[in-house]
Amino acid sequence: MTLLSSCADVSYNGDRCISKPLLLTKYFAEESPTKPDISGLAITTKDPHEKLQLSYSLGNGIPTVLGRGGYCMVFKAEDLKSGQLVALKKSRTPLRVKRPFLQHESRVLQLLQGHPAIPKLYGYGHLKHFEYLSMEILGSSVSDKTTEALTVITVIRIVEQTLCALKHVHKHGLVHRDIKPGNLICSMNDPSKIMLIDFNIAKPISSGPPTTNDPINKIKHTAGTPEWASLNSHRRIDFGPGDDLESLAYTALSLLRGNLPWFNDDIYESFLQSEIRIHKVKAAMSASQLVMHFPTDFAYFLDYSRGLDYHEMPDYNALEDRLRCLAESLGGYSKDDPLDWTSVPSVKIEPQIEQSSLNGTDDDVNYGKDNGDSDSERHTNSYFGDDIDCWDDVHSCRDADITLPTEVEELADSQVQVPTIIEVYGY
Ligand SMILES: Nc1ncnc2c1ncn2[C@@H]1O[C@H](COP(=O)(O)OP(=O)(O)O)[C@@H](O)[C@H]1O
Ligand SMILES: [Mg+2]
Repeated sequence: MTLLSSCADVSYNGDRCISKPLLLTKYFAEESPTKPDISGLAITTKDPHEKLQLSYSLGNGIPTVLGRGGYCMVFKAEDLKSGQLVALKKSRTPLRVKRPFLQHESRVLQLLQGHPAIPKLYGYGHLKHFEYLSMEILGSSVSDKTTEALTVITVIRIVEQTLCALKHVHKHGLVHRDIKPGNLICSMNDPSKIMLIDFNIAKPISSGPPTTNDPINKIKHTAGTPEWASLNSHRRIDFGPGDDLESLAYTALSLLRGNLPWFNDDIYESFLQSEIRIHKVKAAMSASQLVMHFPTDFAYFLDYSRGLDYHEMPDYNALEDRLRCLAESLGGYSKDDPLDWTSVPSVKIEPQIEQSSLNGTDDDVNYGKDNGDSDSERHTNSYFGDDIDCWDDVHSCRDADITLPTEVEELADSQVQVPTIIEVYGY
């Protein structure tokens, strides 16, 4: 059986043919900068009724966990027919849930297939209690590789590759919304290649003006991960491409410095307290304060992303040129060189804000009520306990606003047939 993994290299695949791409212009104005480009990515089986089915095994013993996130665990699994090893993302989602997270992630990956920084999608299935998404197995994430400071050249190489991935995502009319070191992951075959994962809160760029009625607002949290979130995300304003770029700038700064002034390891701070503190410290610090001791190009990067209008597409080429010039001024690098994960001394700067002012809330932002959850509870209060009934419907169902327009979903499904995962053995 040939799997969807062949998306990027369809030529060898005798079972499939490339259909003429159906552009999504119906949903994105012709002149819109966010018009998705899916040329060359559209794949159908010769028999439109043929639906490939996949069965996986997690092995006989304790399964290998590749990673875990907010609502999911990712396991190493084996395709029972082909023997291929895959990454199997698993989320507890009862069948009654109408808008499962991983189904959305699968559709987003369908649209994005074919780019070297996007993992290959193999299959999706929603079984009785869980949904599954299988994809190309990758190596360690940047945050698993290091929590220390890295050399400027390594940071440039990570940022350049992420920028290239973001350009692809934005060109398809989507925003990722959770750019951070944990979602940048090394390719298994080539550890110097960085790939972008975790598309379960990616959403279409709204065609109208930005709304402050972001779905995340309903659960009173910053969209994405507060440490790397854009200032607009803290203010509950809907995401545009510039917000992903701003998160990439914080990612770069955290890798350059080994920390950010709003990092805090106080595990007794509640989630709400940490959101408020992070927002205040972040908003109080200028790019030049944050970038102190490092090349000013990174301050430019942050200022540039903070200054972009909601619908404005970043000038990726100009940013890439700037990074290339900076790399050359530092001696350059060869693309074939492995990424240098050697730690360098970290640089700490104190938050530029009075400690006492961190206690109040920002009048402009509806933070909701503090439910008192401390970080320690957040990490132990897992969705992956033994009791199926403890799954919380509200959390397992994504908001309607995150969903792609129905027509786009249908189009994605009609062009890229994703094999169905019908069985998963073990665990
Ligand atoms: N394709 C993959 N190959 C290897 N590890 C992966 C893969 N996808 C995810 N992981 C690991 O699992 C972790 C959680 O996955 P992620 O997609 O970020 O889940 P969540 O949506 O819950 O944040 C990642 O940080 C990474 O360590
Ligand atoms: Mg993640």
